[in-house]
Amino acid sequence: MNEPADPDVAVATPIRIFDTTLRDGEQSPGCSMTPQQKAVMARALDALGVDAIETGFPASSEADREAARLIAREVRRPTLAVLSRCLPGDIEASVRALEGAARPRLHVFLSTSPLHREHKLRMSKQQVVDATAASVALARRHVDDVEFSTEDGTRTERDFLAEVVGAAIAAGATTINVPDTLGYATPDEIRDLFRFLIATVPGARDVVFSAHCHDDLGLAVANSLAAIEGGARQVECTVNGIGERAGNCAVEELAMALKVRGAWYGADTALDTRRLVATSQLLTRLTGMQVQRNKAVVGANAFAHESGIHQHGMLRHRGTYEIMRPEDVGWSDSKMVLGRHSGRAAVSHRLRALGYALDDAELDTVFAAFKALCERQRVVEDRDLEALMHGEVAGDGYRLAAMTVSDRGGRASAQVELSDPDGRKVTESALGDGPVDALFAALSAATGLALALESYQVHSVGLGADARGEANLSVRDGDAVHEGSGTSRDVIEASALAWLDVANRLLRARAPRADAARRDTAHA
Ligand code: KIV
Ligand code: ZN
Repeated sequence: MNEPADPDVAVATPIRIFDTTLRDGEQSPGCSMTPQQKAVMARALDALGVDAIETGFPASSEADREAARLIAREVRRPTLAVLSRCLPGDIEASVRALEGAARPRLHVFLSTSPLHREHKLRMSKQQVVDATAASVALARRHVDDVEFSTEDGTRTERDFLAEVVGAAIAAGATTINVPDTLGYATPDEIRDLFRFLIATVPGARDVVFSAHCHDDLGLAVANSLAAIEGGARQVECTVNGIGERAGNCAVEELAMALKVRGAWYGADTALDTRRLVATSQLLTRLTGMQVQRNKAVVGANAFAHESGIHQHGMLRHRGTYEIMRPEDVGWSDSKMVLGRHSGRAAVSHRLRALGYALDDAELDTVFAAFKALCERQRVVEDRDLEALMHGEVAGDGYRLAAMTVSDRGGRASAQVELSDPDGRKVTESALGDGPVDALFAALSAATGLALALESYQVHSVGLGADARGEANLSVRDGDAVHEGSGTSRDVIEASALAWLDVANRLLRARAPRADAARRDTAHA
């Protein structure tokens, strides 16, 4: 085990970030991007400060070739790598795709493990060594910067792995990448493997060793950090950890682990970590692949606090429940979510921030109303607190009394019955291109509100007989964005509840403006 680096003496060792979001990430289910989308993402990765971007696998498709060519023209600072098998045709395709790139790298790989040699490649050990040497030498005839990867390297016999790595270095490889392709290794093993290779392979100290860890056991980031302790100076990562099966090492987690625990690792990346959230959100928009709320660093809950004890601690000193500042990764601030688990301290603090100084008795009354409101809605926002302070019942507004939706293959139809804020019944129906479209049209007709939807998501919450659908909507109203949610056993009903939740929030938000307008007219 390494001794922790001494923060007073250590100058951080630079760790190169080789981003493979556009190759290993993009080739995984649900993450494909067009060449133009890849170019947008490549520009964001450049702005984030990654050292190298792997733009694709040119031999695999015309789209990969086009993306690589487009990015080679537009992105000039980072190294641009493309992947090839140990086949002359692949290497030629890669060379053409990198034409004109400012810093081209050919990345060549071959499997080394017994399982892959026998069942996938049907090659002997000697054939693997020979193909490695020949392909690296061919790549070196085209560019000076050649990376060689030993696919399934961590499940390869150590001596043979050292032999292949030695052959790649002797043939001219400048970076040696040892992938944990199946996410099988443990941190201790990986640390030890990198130490072994760097100490024993001739020429190893003249090249850069690189880690490429998959997350099948949830160890990709831990293994990459251990590889750094073992001597790796490049780590291959993806934004949001996307990638084959369980994904790759998540760049945002690795970068922040090195930053927050810099004194331990004595290493750092050159990333502008304040761009991590924006880069993550860009990828989500481009691929539609959502990030789980509790995802480290970039998940919506990563800096959100709801429980009373945590909120109380945070209000005294943010270090009690946060190890990094939200601003350092690109969030504007920590989020104190007011909901069922929140205590008086957090409610009182938020009310003070909104300009209400309450004595104990007043706070008792408002807190009781707040708790009652939490029984009806999951999150209490500033507007809801304002409403409580003005004696309004924030949970009131349009309520769903009944609904029917039918879709017989042609146009779908929906009928809704609501009670309006004054308790009157309103019934409307509408047609649409699908059940949800018809439902939203009927709700719009019943409330007179045309909502500008920014996002609409439906998830399943729970399993089996307890499973419920949860719908989340966000809508834009001028500069403001309002979010609402609804849950039900039926996802269509959950969608109606979410629509009404957000509509009621929007109406409450508009109400003070309407009051002010009325006052202005009266004074005119
Ligand atoms: O996981 C892996 O082994 C790879 C190589 C092709 C680098 O992605
Ligand atoms: Zn991989």
